[in-house]
Amino acid sequence: MRVNGVPQRTIWVAKDGWAVEIIDQTKMPHAFETIRLESMEDAARAIKEMWVRGAPLIGATAAYGLCLALRRDPSTAALKAAYEMLLATRPTAINLRWALDDMMAVLEPLAEGERVAAAYARAAEICDEDVAINHAIGQHGLKVIQSLAERKGRGDVFNILTHCNAGWLATVDWGTALAPIYMAHEAGLKVHVWVDETRPRNQGASLTAWELNQHGVPHTVIVDNAGGHIMQHGMVDMCIVGTDRTTARGDVCNKIGTYLKALAAHDNGVPFYVALPSPTIDWTIADGIREIPIEERDPAEVTQITGRDGNGQPVTVTITPEGSPAANYAFDVTPARLVTGLITERGLCAASEEGLLELFPERRPNRKG
Ligand code: MRU
Repeated sequence: MRVNGVPQRTIWVAKDGWAVEIIDQTKMPHAFETIRLESMEDAARAIKEMWVRGAPLIGATAAYGLCLALRRDPSTAALKAAYEMLLATRPTAINLRWALDDMMAVLEPLAEGERVAAAYARAAEICDEDVAINHAIGQHGLKVIQSLAERKGRGDVFNILTHCNAGWLATVDWGTALAPIYMAHEAGLKVHVWVDETRPRNQGASLTAWELNQHGVPHTVIVDNAGGHIMQHGMVDMCIVGTDRTTARGDVCNKIGTYLKALAAHDNGVPFYVALPSPTIDWTIADGIREIPIEERDPAEVTQITGRDGNGQPVTVTITPEGSPAANYAFDVTPARLVTGLITERGLCAASEEGLLELFPERRPNRKG
């Protein structure tokens, strides 16, 4: 996508051919700064402290983390230690494990001397594949938007609610949930996006709003609790969100608050779609509520809020009374029954085991041949 009209990805290899550069998403929307990662520890810190975030981008950063580790020490012991350290950075998004396992499958069988070049090549492929997957999700999602918008009436504004940031900043490029929205906007549909602010880290207010602004997509930021109200008043035609891990039977784990939006959508007959790249499917588990580890982050993210003061200076203020404890659950699980459909790179399917297996038949346990 573009920043001030200039094409930009979220992660790339620096001009020197080895360091890795990322956008510091903790500074956005007030500043657009890039950071140079020079070691596996830098990559791990970037994920843990959320300089990069979003399931696909976490995976891509971990892949480059292995590249940086191997530059220092291409031994199998060092590779395994780097794998473990990167895997421990964030627990919920399955793309992290997917990318690390994919890299290990390529790198482990190789001789030490071959590993660095192979690692950079595979990490670059993972990034390019992510872009292609998201582009395909965008095209399939565009058809969903077109058909719902047609039903509403040509020329009417089509209102889409999204939660968190599942735009290009959460991926290598395009985004998942926002890709269909960008394509609908480019196709001339009158889309308007309700952007949930997404407390406590405000990925909606800070990142999604910034992205949509950059691309001229009409949008309005709302507090997280407004979704139910605007759905009751017919102001939402469709919800579309991303996911950090979707189980083999279609339970969707995503940013905390997604479940409440799905409940409100269900109660009000609003279609609720999830944009789902295949590396985000965890084929090893079925029950999302019981089996997905939910990240719990620093309570300070709840008790404090950061913004810019009138002079543009960053300022963090405390919003809770001294001594009040806080809990910070970062994700929740929306059961498959509340999901209208999954939009994958292979097309649209029901949020169910059968629906997913129809699109991904190679995953059928008793597949012949
Ligand atoms: O904590 P974050 O910002 O990494 O959470 C991100 C989300 O929940 C996104 O919706 C999800 O990763 C899908 S991104 C394409």
